[in-house]
Amino acid sequence: MLTWQLWITLLFILWFYFLWTRRRFYLLTLKIPGPLGYPILGMAHKLYRRENVLREFGIYLEKHGTTIFSWLGPIPFVIVSDPQVIQDIFTSPHCVNKGLIYKAVDDGAGLGLFSLPDPRWSVHRKLLNPAFGHKVLLSFLPVFNNETRFLLKQMDTLVGEGEKDIIPLLQFLTLSIATQTTMGSDVKLDENLNNSKLMEDYQCLLETMTDMCFSPWLINKTVRQVFGKDEHYSVAKTEIREFIRKIIEKKMARDSEIGTQSQDKNIFLNLAVDLMRRGTFTWENVEDESNLIVFGAFETTANTVAYTLILLSMFPQYQEKAFEEIVALFPESGDLDVTYADTQEMVYLDLILNESMRVMPPVPVVSRQTSQDLLLTNGIVVPKGVQIAIDIFHLHRSKKIWGEDAEIFNPEHFLPHYFQEKHPYAYIPFTKGIRNCIGWKYALISIKVTLAKLIRNYRFSTSFKFEDLVFIEDITIKLKKVPQLEVHRRL
Ligand code: HEM
Repeated sequence: MLTWQLWITLLFILWFYFLWTRRRFYLLTLKIPGPLGYPILGMAHKLYRRENVLREFGIYLEKHGTTIFSWLGPIPFVIVSDPQVIQDIFTSPHCVNKGLIYKAVDDGAGLGLFSLPDPRWSVHRKLLNPAFGHKVLLSFLPVFNNETRFLLKQMDTLVGEGEKDIIPLLQFLTLSIATQTTMGSDVKLDENLNNSKLMEDYQCLLETMTDMCFSPWLINKTVRQVFGKDEHYSVAKTEIREFIRKIIEKKMARDSEIGTQSQDKNIFLNLAVDLMRRGTFTWENVEDESNLIVFGAFETTANTVAYTLILLSMFPQYQEKAFEEIVALFPESGDLDVTYADTQEMVYLDLILNESMRVMPPVPVVSRQTSQDLLLTNGIVVPKGVQIAIDIFHLHRSKKIWGEDAEIFNPEHFLPHYFQEKHPYAYIPFTKGIRNCIGWKYALISIKVTLAKLIRNYRFSTSFKFEDLVFIEDITIKLKKVPQLEVHRRL
């Protein structure tokens, strides 16, 4: 019988053997600066609360440089905020796979485009790309216009009512647009749907998924139950699944009634169901991809419209300039029909939208992992198996790139003579490279239509100060306190 001393010696030998076999990995990571944190924990004690993530990342980047290494428990990770290094990562075939933290997305929203590993991801992406072609996007303009018409009616009820939170109205608008354009179904017509409950479900899912990203042990259901984080999450997940499943089933029933010939085959759901009929997709693929596309589309666009209006309320001089541009295109107030050509004329609105997504990037941090050692332009080698956090938030606020007023909202940051000299990866709200956002053009058109109609018909104001905004990482960016806006009618 071995004594405990022998057991401990054996464990030490095994541990040294493990470290020895990974010596190359450790030698490479030791060359990358960064906070190592405590043994076993690494920096987990600082990052487990999502409220702290962006602030902590900022502190490390400030102290150690723009490419830094650390540990989250046993997980090695690198944080980057340098445009050239980000280009190296986004264009490398060894960094196509999303980071481990996206397991949280698989759990909450399903395994689809967002987190599928390569080569399955590239197959799905190729098959689904036609749903975001230019012609298909142009065919969505009537939906963008009609739905915003409905929003204007709701906005009218807020005129003269003091400061209000407008985010719920915008979320319902973008959910309605997303389900019509991608799934061919108008959720407004479903009288059984409890909108505010569904929105609460989506928020709960997002918050719990973000918690799981930075506290990976929460991916385990039993652990979630112990920490009291499972009950609402499981109900929310089931209800959202049910909502998406019903839309797909209704579409299939409609198809068998009227036949599939008359439909636009490039609408996302038609494409996915057709792939299932041909045996390329399973039912689960259709459900997962549908769930993710609606998720990806509505939350990001609602926040972008809302945050842009919040920023314009804080900086009325830019709101007036946008109004002047739009009123020149649409002298009459009321329900305007915005065409694609109109959106191309709104150049000042472009500056505003870009600046809004610069200071408040809707997705503040994204992650990849290395499938091979990766040599970066700055000479650092990131070994295989490291998680990479691309910190878009701090990239977009770097004084080195954007000047001393990097933290201030100023649309002139995007004037051509100033912006042209920037690194092509200095501004990446939709990321870039091999695995960028599939819906970026869709998003820009739909957001511009909504903003143009709102800015033409209303002036927005707030007593909340820009300096008092506190940002929180929540997969999509959130505010600790959401500024309320007052809505004034324009003639
Ligand atoms: C302002 C609006 C939007 C922003 C800022 C945004 C941002 C992003 C970002 C940063 C990513 C990369 C995530 C990563 O690398 O982990 C992404 C991916 C994605 N987005 Fe968007 N997005 C927006 C709107 C949309 C819309 C409207 C759709 C669909 C209609 C959409 C669907 C997707 C999908 C499916 C992916 C995964 C792509 C892949 O990995 O192949 N997004 N988005």
